Amino acid sequence: MFLWGAATAAYQIEGAVSAGGRGPSVWDTFSHEPGRVRDGHTGDTACDHYHRWPEDVGLLAGLGVDSYRFSIAWPRVQPGGSGPANPAGLDFYDRLTDALLAEGIVPAATLFHWDLPQSLQDAGGWLSRDTAHRFADYTALVADRLADRIPMWITLNEPFVHMAFGYATGVHAPGQVLLTGALPAAHHQLLGHGLATAALRARGAERVLITNNCTPVRPASADPADLAAADAYDVLHNRLFNDPVLLGTYPGLDAYGAALDCVRDGDLELISAPLDGLGVNYYNPTRIAAPDAEAAALGLPFTDAGITGHPVTAFGWPVVPDGLHELLTGLKARYGDALPPVYITENGCSQPDEPGPDGTVDDRERIAYLDGHIAAMERAAAEGVDVRGYYVWSLLDNFEWAEGYHQRFGLVHVDFATQRRTPKASYHWFREHITRQRPFGRCPG
Ligand code: FCB
Repeated sequence: MFLWGAATAAYQIEGAVSAGGRGPSVWDTFSHEPGRVRDGHTGDTACDHYHRWPEDVGLLAGLGVDSYRFSIAWPRVQPGGSGPANPAGLDFYDRLTDALLAEGIVPAATLFHWDLPQSLQDAGGWLSRDTAHRFADYTALVADRLADRIPMWITLNEPFVHMAFGYATGVHAPGQVLLTGALPAAHHQLLGHGLATAALRARGAERVLITNNCTPVRPASADPADLAAADAYDVLHNRLFNDPVLLGTYPGLDAYGAALDCVRDGDLELISAPLDGLGVNYYNPTRIAAPDAEAAALGLPFTDAGITGHPVTAFGWPVVPDGLHELLTGLKARYGDALPPVYITENGCSQPDEPGPDGTVDDRERIAYLDGHIAAMERAAAEGVDVRGYYVWSLLDNFEWAEGYHQRFGLVHVDFATQRRTPKASYHWFREHITRQRPFGRCPG
């Protein structure tokens, strides 16, 4: 049964960073360091979802979605990153889960959306193998409480982005600039995924997925140097995270002059345990050329040449709906029968939406974006890719990481001064889209 949904993440919406015994995460630390986040914004209050969740569940019910993808904040469940569960933290997600179920909405919980407990960062974060074991312990505590009611689990959100931005370039928490020294953060996250998958299975979890950020990689030209660079980028962004999960092997990293020395016997067996789906987050394709002088000086085997000739979002990201078709059919071509059902766990765009004089938010660019991408997904499905869900990023305007509150991705506008929520035109459009697609009532999930 196909799931239409909307997605959020804990640090981006919850606020209430010290309520209910929550401990600090790397994003609390990072956002409070001067110069890290645009205009010094932090997630301290965000959408105040921690207190306003009943209203937000009402917005989901009004939207008519089959499913809601949210993330569980590890530092609410284990404020110090290890040890017994903090009951107040689990209670919050327990109430949310029951409220969703009461509305007939399938809860889809992500266990790690980048908010590592700070004390684990102090011990090395994802550069340390121990963090993978701590993640499995945390997963077990959450699943003990909620696996009886949450049918769909996503272990990690975008381990590529977390490694690349958090550990290689430092534009996200924890802000480390290690370039290829960040690679162990890829393997340890994936090991955490494998260990968490086992913990979820042992507790009867119905569906287990990982969510990867995927981009179709287009070489800037047919020049062999551009082709080689495109391959190298594809390895880093896509294959480093999809191959071990789906095939049980890592791609070669020779182009980076690097090797994953931290992989131990048995790790890949854990990482490649069968999944019920691959979560795919898609925003845009990437065009890659041979390294320019700056990239070469950093030891990087590619340059991002930029996509031209397409409209761009407020973020400057190119709008290329066909890229989603290219991505999905490309995944099928690459992995064949090893590709499990695919769920688009994020897709959406930022626009500078504000209510007009009549109070409505006319975000017609977002409607065009969603319409184009849904059509591209449906084309890929008609050509044989097994796609089972589509979640809009995001339900609400929220804290967009290093961009703070400057990028609005929501179907619902949030006035961060008053916390007033205003459904945008895209909210009404998506509700009608779902209704048209579901003539026989709500899907059981
Ligand atoms: C993805 C993240 C999500 C959000 C969107 C715009 O990379 O998973 O939290 O920031 O980008």
